[in-house]
Amino acid sequence: MVDRIPRQGLEKKAILEQMKAYGVNDADWRSGKTWSLVYDAGDDHIAFLKEAHNLYFSENALNPMAFKSLRTMEHEVVRMCAALFNGDGDTVGMMTSGGTESILCAVHAYRERARKSKPWIRRPEIVAPKTLHVACDKAAHYFGIRMRYAGVDENGRADVKELERLIGRNTILVAASAPQYPHGVVDPIAAIGAICKRKKVPFHVDACFGGFILPWIERLGGTFGPFDFRVPGVTSLSADLHKYGYAAKGASVVLYRSMDVMKHQFFIATDWPGGIYASPTLAGTRPGGPIAAAWAALVSLGEEGYLQRARDAWEAAKRLAVGIKAIDGLAIVAEPDCTVVAWMAAPGGPDLYAVADAMQARGWNIDRQQDPPSVHCTVNWKQTQVVDAYLADLRACVAEVRANPNASTEGQAPMYGMMAKLPVRGLVKNGVLKVLEGLYGASPVADPTAAPPGDGLVDKLVAKYGDQAMQLLDRAESVTKRLRRKKS
Ligand SMILES: Cc1ncc(COP(=O)(O)O)c(C=O)c1O
Repeated sequence: MVDRIPRQGLEKKAILEQMKAYGVNDADWRSGKTWSLVYDAGDDHIAFLKEAHNLYFSENALNPMAFKSLRTMEHEVVRMCAALFNGDGDTVGMMTSGGTESILCAVHAYRERARKSKPWIRRPEIVAPKTLHVACDKAAHYFGIRMRYAGVDENGRADVKELERLIGRNTILVAASAPQYPHGVVDPIAAIGAICKRKKVPFHVDACFGGFILPWIERLGGTFGPFDFRVPGVTSLSADLHKYGYAAKGASVVLYRSMDVMKHQFFIATDWPGGIYASPTLAGTRPGGPIAAAWAALVSLGEEGYLQRARDAWEAAKRLAVGIKAIDGLAIVAEPDCTVVAWMAAPGGPDLYAVADAMQARGWNIDRQQDPPSVHCTVNWKQTQVVDAYLADLRACVAEVRANPNASTEGQAPMYGMMAKLPVRGLVKNGVLKVLEGLYGASPVADPTAAPPGDGLVDKLVAKYGDQAMQLLDRAESVTKRLRRKKS
């Protein structure tokens, strides 16, 4: 372990070798076995992106007067995106480092706007379906705003009536997804937009995940309806270039219907001894590489390149969903509107998290979800090549788990099962805090999730009661559900 800057610099060849060695246990995205985190549009495209990125490796968009090149590219990226999302000549926007920063910027802008236009609001609120990406929850946490969540229908789409009921005098923003990340379905944007327009509340569409896939799927026959500035009530939208835009990491856009809202995003300090300081986004220094690579990705792939990749990924996602539904004991959570498939155990099916463990043991990188327990697969262009292998392994893993009555008590399955069901979420939070402390402590552990039971209460419960604790939680869950059904 290197824990001091070496007195003398090391030899460059050896350094690069050591860096490569660090990566041997990383998720294997090059083979397509990683269904999220990396959006791969092919080796040639990646090589080209690196070249574009390197051209502006050192430039800094913090000062657009010094680097007019970056200002031009950022402006052109925003104009291309405004056109893609059916904005008009008034549509404005910024590039940011990713979806989270785009959402933080928007939430901050709406809070500042409300402070000016509705100064009586002391406890500002955002109303959103519970499937909205947690980046908004994080923004609310940072900026002192309360999240108010509406439920979703059986297909995973926002319950519009409940959402409308939650809008009140403290609401500074309504937000919904196109699509939501967990199950890939698009919220009823037109219906929510109409409510927001009538109630005069701003409406942000989080298209971070799907912004660069939905427009193409729409052209291929997707039936999710308008999700962008075509909907009159939509006042802003975020979309990530570093996802289905197949750009380099560190690139997203946040767009506003007009400068009227975006101006509240800007920070200006006039009295600092270092000079007058103006910053449009959360970041100070803004690296040139991601801006340059995003510009290059859009103009090199072009509409035809995106459409072709979207067609391939969409076909692969449909094939995956059909294949999963054909496996006895599995089901998909919702019929997706785009290239996401979330699968779960059907009633009477095998333990979901045990199947997930078995798939992981076969080298697949697995994204476990909760409420309901499910596994998330983002299908991008690369996954077109691995759908059949994934389905074959999944069939084998279901059979393996069914044949082993102890599967749900082995590996990580009991931990995930417990985490998903524990009604006291504070305990779960403490468990996760321990994982973070393990990861980022002075002597980090390689895999804190695989560590022997620590002093967290969740660990202790799993270690001590294992299966029995799960049965109790199952019973508690079914009672809660029954009570909820009675209430509604
Ligand atoms: C719908 C949605 N919004 C926001 C984000 C946050 O994006 P990032 O991880 O780039 O900050 C994601 C990430 O997956 C997402 O799926």
